[in-house]
Amino acid sequence: MARDRYIPGLFLVAILVLNLVYNVGAKAKVPAVIVFGDSSVDAGNNNLISTVLKSNFQPYGRDFEGGRPTERFSNGRIPPDFISEAFGLKPAIPAYLDPMYTISDFVTGVCFASAGTGYDNATSNVLNVIPLWKELENYKDYQKRLRAYVGEKKANHIFREALYLMSLGTNDFLENYYTFPARRSQFTVKQYQDFLVGLAENFIRELHALGARKLSLTGVPPMGCLPLERATNFMGQYDCVEEYNKVGLEFNGKLDSLVKKLNKELPGMKIVSANGYEIFYQIIRKPSSFGFEVAEKACCATGTFEMSYLCNQQNPFTCTDASKYVFWDAFHPTEKTNKIISGHLIPQLLATFA
Ligand SMILES: *[C@@H]1O[C@H](CO)[C@@H](O)[C@H](O)[C@H]1NC(C)=O
Repeated sequence: MARDRYIPGLFLVAILVLNLVYNVGAKAKVPAVIVFGDSSVDAGNNNLISTVLKSNFQPYGRDFEGGRPTERFSNGRIPPDFISEAFGLKPAIPAYLDPMYTISDFVTGVCFASAGTGYDNATSNVLNVIPLWKELENYKDYQKRLRAYVGEKKANHIFREALYLMSLGTNDFLENYYTFPARRSQFTVKQYQDFLVGLAENFIRELHALGARKLSLTGVPPMGCLPLERATNFMGQYDCVEEYNKVGLEFNGKLDSLVKKLNKELPGMKIVSANGYEIFYQIIRKPSSFGFEVAEKACCATGTFEMSYLCNQQNPFTCTDASKYVFWDAFHPTEKTNKIISGHLIPQLLATFA
C-alpha cells in the first residue's frame, strides 16, 4: 500500500530532476545569441545613426509585439528572434545602440547589425551605416561592459558559449558592386566574391580571438528575386535576375569552403553554414505550397521599389494581410517568410549547438 503512494512521488522527483538537468544544461550550452550583419538581422541599430536607411515608423513592425516599429526591416520578427526563442532565450533580440536598453538587457542576447552594411567598407559608406569593423568595435565595448556587469568569469563563459550569428553580403553586390563603378573597375565579380570571403575570414578570426566558439554563418538569399531587382528586369519580363542569383550561389559556395577551412584551423571553433538560399528560392518559386499568394511584389506600397522612408503610412497601396506576401518591402521578407526560413535552419543549429 505504502509503495503505491510512493511510486508517483518518485516519478515526480525524477521528472523534476530531469527538468532541472535539462534546463541547466540548455542554459549552460547557449547562454546568449549575438548578432552581426545587415538588415536581414538588424533589430534597430540604425535608429541612432544618421542614415536615410531607417524603418522605425509604421507600417514597419505593425505585426510586431505592440505594433512597435523597432527598425526591423519587416512587419514583425526577423530570423535571430526566432532562433533565440528556439534556444529558450528571448523572443526578440535587443539592439545594442537602442537607448531603451541597458547592459542588463544584453546578458542573453544582443544585436550589432546595421541595415545597409556589408563586408566591404565601401558598402557601408554608400548609405553611411555602421561598417562591419565598427560592429566588432561595438562588440568589444559590450565585452567590457558585460565583464563589469556580471564579472570576468561569467562574462567569459557567455562569450565562449554564446551562439554568434552572421548574415550579410547582399548589399556588397546590389548596393555597391552593381550600382557604383568603383569596385567593378577594380574586380571581376568572381574576384569581388573572393575579396568579400577574405574579409569574412578576417572577421571570423578576430571573433575567435575575442572568445567566440559557436558561429552560424549565413550567405546571401536569391538576390535576383528581390522585388526591387525584378522591377528592373523588364527585358526578362520581371522575372528573377538570373545573373544575381548565380553570383549569390557562387558566393555562398565560397563561404561554405571558408567554413570548412576555418573549422579545421581555428581551435575549438564550430561554424555552421546556415544557408537559407534554397528554402527561400522554393518559397519564391512555389509560394502557394507555403501558404503565400504573392511572391513577385512586396506588401508595402506598390511592392516594386519602396523601402525605408518610401514605405510609409501615407501610402494607400500597402496590403492589409502581410502573411499572403513573401516580401514585406521591395528588399525584405515578411515575418512569415522569416519564420519559415528560420524554422528550416533551427533544427541544424539546435543539433549542433544545444
Ligand atoms: C576598413 O576601415 C577600417 C577603419 O578605417 C580599417 O581599419 C580597415 O582596414 C578597412 N578594411 C579594408 C579591407 O580596407
